[in-house]
Amino acid sequence: MQIFSLISQKGGAGKSTLARQLAVLAGEDAPSLLIDRDPQETTTKWWQRRQALQPAPERPDLIDLDGTDLTTAAATLRKRPGGGAVFVDTRPAVAEPEAEAARVADLVIVPVRPSPDDLEAVGETLKILRRLGQRAVLVVNAAKNEGRARDARAALSRYPVPVCPTHIADRAVYLDASLEGRGVGEMRGAAARDAHAELRTVWAWLQEVAHEQH
Ligand SMILES: Nc1ncnc2c1ncn2[C@@H]1O[C@H](COP(=O)(O)OP(=O)(O)OP(=O)(O)O)[C@@H](O)[C@H]1O
Ligand SMILES: [Mg+2]
Repeated sequence: MQIFSLISQKGGAGKSTLARQLAVLAGEDAPSLLIDRDPQETTTKWWQRRQALQPAPERPDLIDLDGTDLTTAAATLRKRPGGGAVFVDTRPAVAEPEAEAARVADLVIVPVRPSPDDLEAVGETLKILRRLGQRAVLVVNAAKNEGRARDARAALSRYPVPVCPTHIADRAVYLDASLEGRGVGEMRGAAARDAHAELRTVWAWLQEVAHEQH
C-alpha cells in the first residue's frame, strides 16, 4: 500500500477533510485505510458516523494502532498485497508524532487555505518537513473562487515543493458529507458532482507525484 500523510501546523487547513475524502475516493478502486493520529479524533468520529450508514460502506477501513507504533504499523501495511492507499490524519502541529507520520509516508500532503496568514504559515511546516528530508506537496483547499486559488498557487510557488495545479473549492457539500459520514461522491446534486470531479483530479495528480518519487 502507498502511504499519504496529511500534515500542517496550521489548524483548520483541511487535513481531516482531505484525509477522509481522499480515502473514500481511493476506496472506489482499491483498498483504502485511514489512520487517525489526532487526539481530537475528527476522522474517527466521521468514520463512526459512516459505520452507522445502512449498509455501512466497506471502505475506507479505520486502523486502530492499539499501542503499535506508526512506524511498525506502516511497515506492515506497506507490504500488504493488493495495493491501495493509507491516509494518516495528524494534529495541527509539527512535532514528533507528525514527524513520524511524515517519515513513514510515500508522500506528505500539506493542505493550505488561500488566506495570507495560511500562505505565510505554511513556510514553517515546509521548513520542518525539509529538515526531515521528506518531500511534500501543497494542495490549495477551500478556495472561494478560481482567482483566489490561482493567486494562492502563485504565492506558493516561492516554496521549493510541487503545488497541485487543481484546487479544492470551498463548498458546503464538504461539510454536509462530513456530517453524514460520507464522501462527496456519495452525496446528491451538482455541487457534489463538482466536488467529486475536483477531488478525482487532485487524487490522480497525487498518485502521479507519489509514483515519480519512487
Ligand atoms: N473545501 C472545503 N469546503 C468547505 N469547508 C471545508 C473545506 N475544507 C475544510 N472545510 C471545513 O473547515 C473546517 C476545518 O477543516 P478540517 O477539520 O478538515 O481541518 P484540519 O486541518 O483537519 O483541522 P485541525 O487542524 O483542527 O485538525 C471543517 O469544519 C471543515 O468541514
Ligand atoms: Mg483535523
